[in-house]
Amino acid sequence: MTSLQVENLTKTYTSAGRQLTVLHEVSFSLQPADTFAIVGPSGSGKTTLLGLCAGLDRASSGSVWLQGIQLDKLSEDQRAAVRNQHVGFIFQNFQLLPTLTALENVQVPLELRGERNVARTAQALLERVGLGERGHHYPAQLSGGEQQRVSLARAFANRPAILFADEPTGNLDPDTGETVQKLLFDLNKEAGTTLVLVTHDLELAAKTQRTMRMRGGKVVEESVGTAS
Ligand SMILES: Nc1ncnc2c1ncn2[C@@H]1O[C@H](COP(=O)(O)OP(=O)(O)OP(=O)(O)O)[C@@H](O)[C@H]1O
Ligand SMILES: [Mg+2]
Repeated sequence: MTSLQVENLTKTYTSAGRQLTVLHEVSFSLQPADTFAIVGPSGSGKTTLLGLCAGLDRASSGSVWLQGIQLDKLSEDQRAAVRNQHVGFIFQNFQLLPTLTALENVQVPLELRGERNVARTAQALLERVGLGERGHHYPAQLSGGEQQRVSLARAFANRPAILFADEPTGNLDPDTGETVQKLLFDLNKEAGTTLVLVTHDLELAAKTQRTMRMRGGKVVEESVGTAS
């Protein structure tokens, strides 16, 4: 089974009576445990593409199969259930819930799955990202990089088959960035998680097996990375 299959994905927005096509017939497919980077200039459609692949939004045309499930046939609620079961997502702007502490944010996906010992599991995840002592802090009391790492712990919480990460190291100092990078690739190796990264960091992109370059909503190049 392919982990992710994207066929002729197109997204058009209408604003102020004008149509803007921000993704144009994008296709690619990934096998389980593949590592994949999407690069390209600001506004080229990377975040839009990631959101469609993860079932956060619907395409104007084209199809996405995630773990063999065709997302465009599903209702919003059904897509939410698929996300909870199979997907981890690290947002470019973190999207932590502001009224919950760091620990509670990490607990959310675990509670949605009805798991036991959610507090203990969430605490262990926070420790893995170096924030074991900060569980009681609210997002507003954390730095950008710390919020990024809470977001990472939350994305790992449900042991996703596929992890989407939008600029996962974008707000981090080099050392913390390296730690986060290692966590992502460790998860890929240990759990066979398919990794889809959007990044401006070409060094990070080169560590994946394949890189896809976008411009103006189109795929302009696919290349094989240095990773085996
Ligand atoms: N809701 C919307 N309505 C209209 N246009 C939108 C909407 N969301 C995104 N866009 C446009 O779609 C294009 C692609 O945006 P997207 O966020 O996918 O780019 P990106 O490649 O992730 O850029 P960056 O590197 O800056 O994060 C942009 O031109 C953006 O203005
Ligand atoms: Mg973006």
